Amino acid sequence: MSNTPSIVVVGSVNLDLVASVPHLPVAGETVTGATLARYPGGKGANQALAARRLGADVCLCACTGRDTAADEALALLRNDGVDLSHCLADTESATGIALIAVAPDGDNQIVVAPGANRRLTPERLDLPDADALICQLEVPIETVAAAAADFSGLFCVNLAPATVVPANVLRRADVIVMNETESEFIGDAIDVCDNLVAITYGARGAVLRRRGETIAEVRPPKVDVVDATGAGDTFTAALTVGLLEDMPPAKALEFACAAAALATTRPGAQPALPWRTELNQDN
Ligand code: RIB
Repeated sequence: MSNTPSIVVVGSVNLDLVASVPHLPVAGETVTGATLARYPGGKGANQALAARRLGADVCLCACTGRDTAADEALALLRNDGVDLSHCLADTESATGIALIAVAPDGDNQIVVAPGANRRLTPERLDLPDADALICQLEVPIETVAAAAADFSGLFCVNLAPATVVPANVLRRADVIVMNETESEFIGDAIDVCDNLVAITYGARGAVLRRRGETIAEVRPPKVDVVDATGAGDTFTAALTVGLLEDMPPAKALEFACAAAALATTRPGAQPALPWRTELNQDN
């Protein structure tokens, strides 16, 4: 491996339409008084940009529509030097859109209209070589399975959003990342695998497990949370970068928690993703 780790991300690109609301709505409730913003997002794109800002060379395999939303959604990736030469522009569907409500405490609700993300099928995947592959579950699961099967380096899968994942994908994963809800969804099926399993608990921190045993536990730095969107994506990217840099697992977990905490202090998914220089010197 060269000094700069290389990562390929197979995943989604969305344009996030973000309403900052006085409180999150319950079913059937209309909440007014919101302010609206548009930010580049999508779990795949967020993870690609986070890894890039943390120092990796990153290539994103994704599918957008051929529309102005794609230009907006890809702008920061382009600006920060993520390789977009493996991104498809589909003529038959629109770029994915995420409708996001963010409460004053930073908590959010997200509804995704995947659009062109669904068109990233296994046949259209053109997977380059890299030190690591990161996938999430906003593109067809068959595509994630195909990428995992074709790839020989470190494979990290973020089980978000929660959905049924084939056992061979879980077995192939070197690193699995999920939040509390996703962990409840998947249950203890994961504990039989030899891989590293990271579970995030928001402001309460994160744990690393192997075969059901906790091997590291970290409490994140205390921060003023503005918007938690993209924190899980930052965590996933940072954990992968840390492991590629040969950090011991506990140190990589600490690095991932610090990066994710920083991502919550600013609004929007991609504008909030931290740069390496913002993290402590020893990271
Ligand atoms: O993880 C955060 C992301 O989830 C948002 O950027 C939104 O696009 C949804 O995909």
